Amino acid sequence: MRVTDLSLEDFRSYAEVTIALGRGTTAFVGRNGAGKTNLLEAIHLAARGDSPRAHDDTELVRWGAQTGRVRVDVDRAEGHRRIEILLFSPPEGERRRPRRYLLDGAGRRADDVAGELVVVAFFPEDVDLLGAAPGARRRYLDAMLSQIERAHRRETRELQRVIEQRNALLRAAREEMTLSEDEIAFWDRELVRLSASVSLRRAQLVEELAPAFREATARFAASTTDTSPPAGVDVVYGGQVQGPTIAERASAYEGLLREKRDRERWQGTTLVGPHRDDLLVTANGRALPSFASRGEHRSAVLSLKVAEAAWLTSRVGEPPVFLLDDVLSELDPGRREALAAAIPTGAQALLTAATHGGLPDAIRDHAQLVSVSHGGVVQP
Ligand SMILES: Nc1ncnc2c1ncn2[C@@H]1O[C@H](COP(=O)(O)OP(=O)(O)OP(=O)(O)O)[C@@H](O)[C@H]1O
Ligand SMILES: [Mg+2]
Repeated sequence: MRVTDLSLEDFRSYAEVTIALGRGTTAFVGRNGAGKTNLLEAIHLAARGDSPRAHDDTELVRWGAQTGRVRVDVDRAEGHRRIEILLFSPPEGERRRPRRYLLDGAGRRADDVAGELVVVAFFPEDVDLLGAAPGARRRYLDAMLSQIERAHRRETRELQRVIEQRNALLRAAREEMTLSEDEIAFWDRELVRLSASVSLRRAQLVEELAPAFREATARFAASTTDTSPPAGVDVVYGGQVQGPTIAERASAYEGLLREKRDRERWQGTTLVGPHRDDLLVTANGRALPSFASRGEHRSAVLSLKVAEAAWLTSRVGEPPVFLLDDVLSELDPGRREALAAAIPTGAQALLTAATHGGLPDAIRDHAQLVSVSHGGVVQP
């Protein structure tokens, strides 16, 4: 799969720009603040519906403009797609408008557009993934699954709502000292049903990621010349319940609910469910964040992304588009080359670098180079 054209109107620093993207690797090169990340951010938005750094559409619309537009043309094995997103930034005091999605020119719901373009992305923020609060890692897994499985998208949203409702009920009960048993029983059933299915999907995903992850970490480790033995790095899903079927998980969650019954009522919050789970990366049995260097964190997260790409490829039937923002600058030369080698031939990779010198030989020799300067790009 590849992006053939990216077109922006009043998006971030761009008033208007259209970029034709070739097969293979494209490197966006330009000074700090030139607008390189903005380009990858736009593609990420079209693929996954969110930005790694903006929490509000008003940040994405060019300052002074009221609407912004991102248009991405995608070539997939099964044909061509055009994804468009309209973003609104109404002037102060005016009503906010939700963004609009179009697929091949027709208005669609966000859910119908998600997954039309599949990407694996590395942004500078991702280095902190393993050291961040567990919620970030759960969101990471859910975002990966949501690109592929519509049901996961729907169920994680429902689960969120069930937990909110149940928490409100438990909180109210704690204050008023009464709890409608019928009502809580209804939310318990919903919680069990959704928790079983969401946690099973996540656990299976991590199991499927693990071999490729171990392989990638070994490759990154072998690429360095240091003599320290490569640590036995592994990734597991740390779940409250185990089990290979929905039914087994459901009954385990039921048991856990009984066990935590008093504690939940006393604390006024839902203690059972996959919102308490985590993705754990360990080295020789120890949690990585506790001792790894920043470069090691970066390598571990990159290995995770390499595994993610392999997983997405197996699900989609063709490699995702790689978005690699400023990924090379902090890697030693061995790891840079290892990363370049991990991108499958035939996959499209879009990456950014502040200077040409920052590009590994393997990439510099074959990549299409696009110079980015404030508000514009220059194509060869
Ligand atoms: N909504 C906006 N409207 C106009 N300009 C914006 C908007 N949001 C960000 N910018 C500008 O975009 C520029 C940042 O672009 P970007 O993050 O893509 O730079 P970069 O090339 O990736 O830089 P670096 O090499 O430092 O990562 C900044 O100059 C910033 O002022
Ligand atoms: Mg940047």
